[in-house]
Amino acid sequence: MTPKAAKATKDTKATYAEPVVSARDVTMTYGDVDVLQGVDLDIHRGEIFALLGPNGAGKTTTVEILEGFRRRSAGEVSVLGADPERGDDAWRARIGLVLQSWRDHRRWRVAELLTHFATYYPDPRDPAELLALVGLTAQGGRQVERLSGGQRRRLDVALGIVGRPELLFLDEPTTGFDPEARREFHVLVERLAREEGVTVLLTTHDLAEAERLADRIAMLVGGRIRACGTPAELARQAAARAEVRWTADDGTIHRERTADPSQLVWELHRHADGPIAGLEVRRPTLEDTYLHMLHRETDGTDGTGGIDETNGTDGTDDTARAA
Ligand SMILES: Nc1ncnc2c1ncn2[C@@H]1O[C@H](COP(=O)(O)OP(=O)(O)OP(=O)(O)O)[C@@H](O)[C@H]1O
Ligand SMILES: [Mg+2]
Repeated sequence: MTPKAAKATKDTKATYAEPVVSARDVTMTYGDVDVLQGVDLDIHRGEIFALLGPNGAGKTTTVEILEGFRRRSAGEVSVLGADPERGDDAWRARIGLVLQSWRDHRRWRVAELLTHFATYYPDPRDPAELLALVGLTAQGGRQVERLSGGQRRRLDVALGIVGRPELLFLDEPTTGFDPEARREFHVLVERLAREEGVTVLLTTHDLAEAERLADRIAMLVGGRIRACGTPAELARQAAARAEVRWTADDGTIHRERTADPSQLVWELHRHADGPIAGLEVRRPTLEDTYLHMLHRETDGTDGTGGIDETNGTDGTDDTARAA
């Protein structure tokens, strides 16, 4: 790349120049179990980044290492320009946390707890506005132990953002949320990232949530990041295919899976006399991609069973097409 081109790229992506989070070859061993075996990550300013992986994959371990809550066994980590193991109070104040499990403040009243936490930060959000933002205004005077699970989680989110963090770690933040709370939370996270430039690292088992929110997604399996990219890039890497369905003139329903559905639809139209009845194209979802990759990494199959639960004959089609 010429110096001029490099400058142009840098200028147009000025905010993406320096990773906010960078991890190189991070390992973590608990006893004799190697949970992380060389994790590499770069997360850029303003990005919403989702870390996916099965239970026990090491997502919380990774997030806690980045937060400075857990000492890594080896590797290099930089978060907002510092090694989290040596982050001072000023560094800590720039980070917001929603932990998977949180120290309890059962006896505190909701609004008092939030007001108390706000005093830790130089430029906190207004506690009353924050309560409204997470839908807890009516519960402001209630003791934390009397909140429902989902209300408790909303309070966790409020505590995570009270200090106007530049970087927000959300470890399974929407566990227990009802659909409306989940939707409101998604809008809130998008607003934080798009309007305030907050960088977000999110773990979730809700793949629709990751697909909706994340600019980029990483999959942690077997102690390493096995895939990383936009949902579309992951789908391409996984070679998860779209399904095209249509009804033939004799009424039989056809299904075919293809990497190029527009080509297939075009061919169908070319051979048809008129409109094609019941034509449907189903793009692979992130769930398809995830299961496809997970099976490939863990049991060597292509995860086809996970991709198309309705079409038991698909494996045979694949063989026929490959032959
Ligand atoms: N303090 C600890 N001591 C020993 N082993 C631990 C400790 N914390 C976690 N582990 C183990 O490390 C592995 C990774 O745990 P971790 O909590 O990071 O997984 P996770 O990906 O967050 O899982 P989940 O999706 O269930 O939250 C698990 O096998 C877990 O049992
Ligand atoms: Mg976890």
